[in-house]
Amino acid sequence: MKVSVRRLVKNYDSVQGRVVALDGIDFDIEVGEFYTLLGPSGCGKSTTLRCIAGLEHPDGGEIIIGEKTVAGKGRSLPPNLRPIGMVFQSYAIWPHMTVFNNVAFPLKQVKSWVPNPERTERVMETLKLVKMEALADRPTPFLSGGQQQRVALARALVSRPEVLLLDEPLSNLDAKLREELRIEIKQLTRELGITTLYVTHDQLEALAMSDRIAVMREGRILQEGTPRDIYLRPQTPFVAQFVGQVNFFQGGVAEAPASGMGKVDIGAGSFACALPQGTGIGDRVIVAVRPENMSATRTRSDENGVNVIQGVVEQAVFLGDSIDCQLSVDGQMIRAKVEQTADLGLGETLYLAFRPEACTVFRL
Ligand SMILES: Nc1ncnc2c1ncn2[C@@H]1O[C@H](COP(=O)(O)OP(=O)(O)OP(=O)(O)O)[C@@H](O)[C@H]1O
Ligand SMILES: [Mg+2]
Repeated sequence: MKVSVRRLVKNYDSVQGRVVALDGIDFDIEVGEFYTLLGPSGCGKSTTLRCIAGLEHPDGGEIIIGEKTVAGKGRSLPPNLRPIGMVFQSYAIWPHMTVFNNVAFPLKQVKSWVPNPERTERVMETLKLVKMEALADRPTPFLSGGQQQRVALARALVSRPEVLLLDEPLSNLDAKLREELRIEIKQLTRELGITTLYVTHDQLEALAMSDRIAVMREGRILQEGTPRDIYLRPQTPFVAQFVGQVNFFQGGVAEAPASGMGKVDIGAGSFACALPQGTGIGDRVIVAVRPENMSATRTRSDENGVNVIQGVVEQAVFLGDSIDCQLSVDGQMIRAKVEQTADLGLGETLYLAFRPEACTVFRL
């Protein structure tokens, strides 16, 4: 089912005053789509999910699931009547029950709950989906973090919901397991064809799993698009630095031809780059360049049209697949991703070269 969220507003009143948790959020999730809300802590991700699940009542706006308005226009459908399954930020599985009973629990909550043999089959089928059928009788305290997460996922899926809501389901797991489960969850949702809303503050997770991402900040959506769009064509410096690493250079526009490359002067040099529409000479801008788009060399290469700046190595951290190098460029720290085999010495001078296409320019 399609999910539509229209002008959603949610305020919380606390002793410190009013908190605007959601300040007019709009988005649509298409049938079978994997849609992710990505943003820093406190930006309103969980609140959005909880409003869709019916665990919070919005102060304004509408939520439509399929053809039905489940919240808004003075209406609010209770959570158990919404066709959704949810996995919470903390797994929230019951420690006094076995794996089987945890997963069977939602089936017992509906009036027309299925009789025993059918119920057992449904539960076992769902456990199979998450590869937990062998552990059906185990009490949940005797499970690893990853296994507990699978149980939470099975419990969310057992009622065969139309929409799956996942709130940072992998944040309590170690890096390796997180990567494994990331792929599994993505595959599972694709196989089931289920409409999925995923919440995370981890940009890699969002890029790896999503069909589309909405980047949130302070109760609003700043930009929505495919992972490629968001990473390669960020519309604001905030989005650029939130999805991946980036270097910012402040400068003034020196050349702004009607078509073709412009030129921006920064203290340490000048860059050829495409300027946003309407930019004129003298305008203040920020030029963003990602570390992986800079190549570092000991001698200055003067390939035509390539931007070059000079920096001094301040730190070089070996990361296995690359070296995370910090250089001082005209008093500013710049990050470059350098080949793993490079033998860098602190204090050494390097030249960083990058193509004009690697630059994204924002007007100040
Ligand atoms: N029950 C509540 N009472 C008062 N304020 C709340 C309540 N729940 C959330 N908030 C506030 O609303 C804002 C959004 O919170 P929310 O939990 O949606 O953020 P989040 O994006 O999920 O963050 P995190 O990544 O830390 O989980 C925050 O400022 C938070 O402090
Ligand atoms: Mg949250």
